[in-house]
Amino acid sequence: MAKPGAPSSLDQAEQIPQPTNGRNTLTIKDDRTGKQYVIPIEYDTIHATDLRQIKIKDDDFGMMTYDPAFLNTAACKSRITYIDGDKGILRYRGYPIEQLAEKSTYLEVAYLLIYGELPTKSQYEKWMNDIKMHTLIHENIKKFVDGFHYDAHPMGMLISSVAALSTFYTDAKHISDPESRKLQIFRLVAKMPTLAAFVFRHSVGRPYVYPDNDLSYPGNFLNMLFRMTELKYKVDPVLEHALDVLFILHADHEQNCSTSAMRNVGSSHVDPFSATAAAAAALYGPLHGGANEAVLLMLSEIGSKSNVPAFIKTVKEGKGRLMGFGHRVYKNYDPRAKVIKKLADEVFEVTGRNPMLDIALELEHIALDDEYFIKRKLYPNVDFYSGLIYQAMGFPVDMFPVLFAIGRTSGWVAQWQEMLLDPEQKIARPRQIFLGPGLRDYVMMGKRAEEKVPKNL
Ligand code: ACO
Repeated sequence: MAKPGAPSSLDQAEQIPQPTNGRNTLTIKDDRTGKQYVIPIEYDTIHATDLRQIKIKDDDFGMMTYDPAFLNTAACKSRITYIDGDKGILRYRGYPIEQLAEKSTYLEVAYLLIYGELPTKSQYEKWMNDIKMHTLIHENIKKFVDGFHYDAHPMGMLISSVAALSTFYTDAKHISDPESRKLQIFRLVAKMPTLAAFVFRHSVGRPYVYPDNDLSYPGNFLNMLFRMTELKYKVDPVLEHALDVLFILHADHEQNCSTSAMRNVGSSHVDPFSATAAAAAALYGPLHGGANEAVLLMLSEIGSKSNVPAFIKTVKEGKGRLMGFGHRVYKNYDPRAKVIKKLADEVFEVTGRNPMLDIALELEHIALDDEYFIKRKLYPNVDFYSGLIYQAMGFPVDMFPVLFAIGRTSGWVAQWQEMLLDPEQKIARPRQIFLGPGLRDYVMMGKRAEEKVPKNL
C-alpha cells in the first residue's frame, strides 16, 4: 500500500524499491573522521539536510550535495505528472498521455491538472463557463501591446504582457486566499490565448479580433488569430482538433525548466502573473520551448534530404546539435513525439504536406540508426515534429514558443498551487560552493593593478 504522502498512483508507488532486510536507511561513513551516520530513506531518496550533521568540527556548516542543473535532486513531492524517461511514459494524474490526447479536450486536461480529477459533465460546463467569462483583456493591455516595435518577438511581447496583468489584477497578490487563487487561475488559462493572438496580430499589422465565446478554446484562438473581413470565421475542425491535442501534449511535464521557474519565483509569494512571466521567459530559450523554432531553422538550413548525412556528420563532430533530439528525462522516444507524428498526417491532409517533413523523416531515420545517437540515447522529443505542424497551419516560427506557453499555462498554475499548499515548501534558495577570493582590503582606484578580464566575460 502507498505510504501517506506517497504518489497516489499504485503503479508508481510499486516502483519504489522496498528493502529486503526491513531497513530503510543509508549508512554513511565519513573517512575524514571515521564517524558513521544512519540516514533515513524515504521514496528511494534521502533528505539533503540530513547530510548537514556530517562535519569535522562542531562549527562547520556541514555536508552539502553539489548538483548543478539539478541532475539528481528532487525539489518537491508532486502528484501531478509522472514520467518514466527510460520507458517513454508520460501520465497526467495517472492518465496516459496517449489516452488523453485521443479522448480528451485541452480544457478537460487543464481541469484534471489543476483539480486532480477529470471533471463530471456539470463540473466541466461550469469550468468552461468560468474560463469563457475571463477571455477578454483590459483595453489598456491592448494599448500596451500596441507600444511594441513592429518586429518585436511575439514571445517577448507575451512575457511582458502576462507580467503586466499583475498591474491590472492587484488582488492577485492574495495568494493565500483560495478564492483569489481560483480567480487568477481562470484569468491565466482564459487570457493566455487572447494575449497570444493579440501579439500575433500586432506583429503582422492586423486589427485585433476579440474573443468569440461561442467557439471552443482552440477554435476561439484560431478565430482571434486568422479572422480577416468575413463576418464569421469558419474554423477548420481538423486544425481545431490538432491544436487542442498539441495543447494537451504541452500542458505539463513535471519539473522542467519553466515549471521550476514558476515554482521558484512563486515561492517568493509573488502574484501568479509575475511568476507566469518568469516561467514563460524560461520557456523562451532555445534549449526549452524555443527548440521547435530551432528545428525549423535547422531543417531549412539543411535544405534537402541529400544534405542530411553531411549535417549529421557535423553534429557528431560537435559542431552543433540535432535540434528536437535528446531530452534530460527521456532516454527513449518521447511519447508526445509519437502522438504528434501521427497528428502531422491528419494536418497535412488539410494543409498540404510540409516539404520539410521529408528532411525531418530522413534525419530521424539516420539518427536512430547511428551509434552516436544510440549510445547517448538521443531520440526525437516533442519539438521535433510540432514545428512542422505549426508551420503548415500558418504560424510563423516565432509564434511556436507562444503556442507552447498557452498549453503549458495549466501545468504552471497547477504546479504553482501545489507548491503553495505544500507545507514542506519554503522560498527556494539554493546553496553554493564559494570558490572566490578570501578576505581582502579595498584598494583605491588609482592604486589598482591592471588585471586582465577573462575572455568569456
Ligand atoms: N544533438 C547532438 N548531441 C546531443 C544532443 C543533440 N540534440 N543532445 C545531447 N547531445 C549529446 C551531448 O553533446 C552530450 O554528448 P557527450 O556526452 O559526448 O558530451 C550528451 O549527448 C549528453 O548531453 P547533455 O547536454 O549532457 O544532455 P542534457 O540532458 O543536459 O540536455 C537537452 C538535454 C538540452 C534537451 C539536449 O538534448 C539538447 O540540447 N537538445 C536539443 C535541444 C532541444 O531539442 N530541446 C528541447 C527539449 S524538449 C523541451 O524542452 C520541450
